[in-house]
Amino acid sequence: MEVLQTSALPLGYVAAPSEWILPSHPPTSLEVRLSRQVAGHDFRDVMARMPASVVVISARSEGGYRGLTASSLVSISVDPPMVLVGLEREAATRSAVAVTRAFNVSVLTRSQEFIADRFAGRAPAIDTAWRDVPHRLGVNGLPLIEGCAAWLECRLVEIHSAGDHDICVGEVTAATAGSGDPLILWDRAFWTLR
Ligand SMILES: Cc1cc2nc3c(=O)[nH]c(=O)nc-3n(C[C@H](O)[C@H](O)[C@H](O)COP(=O)(O)O)c2cc1C
Repeated sequence: MEVLQTSALPLGYVAAPSEWILPSHPPTSLEVRLSRQVAGHDFRDVMARMPASVVVISARSEGGYRGLTASSLVSISVDPPMVLVGLEREAATRSAVAVTRAFNVSVLTRSQEFIADRFAGRAPAIDTAWRDVPHRLGVNGLPLIEGCAAWLECRLVEIHSAGDHDICVGEVTAATAGSGDPLILWDRAFWTLR
């Protein structure tokens, strides 16, 4: 099996807590600032060495459908089937998930890198983001992107606060396997397997 790099990632995104070193004494404001910068930078570099699949989390807000590119999806339970995804507290999609208590997952393939880019930007006009992305609606009424490696429909069961992200736990109500080589995030770039 070959591993191919498809492109360098413009954003270099890796979810990271804002601080992870606990000072042994009450820190001065300068120490806090420095430890966050230095530790945060190291942590992101280390986490960049971990490969992750790239998915789009979709949800619905009052204004329309939302979508967010994510690399934090994890399978956590088989019976009942459950997954978790870490969503930035400030992300519009996280708010939509919390309000409608549901989200869908579309697992991207190597030919869908442009979709990863599309949903990694905070699009001001919600429906614009979905306009030229072929999609259908799941049983729960939320978008699923066509041509993916797999799809999940989830009912939100819990949200846990975790640093600057929230952990959203979903019970899987529908799961479908697709086809295609996966899109993989590693070392701040997109890769695939062949
Ligand atoms: C490869 C990649 C992986 C990402 N993974 C996550 C993630 O796991 N969780 C998250 O909250 N944001 C992640 N992001 C950042 C979001 O996609 C980005 O903040 C998005 O613009 C949020 O959109 P929204 O505010 O419209 O919901 C990732 C971005 C990229 C490019």
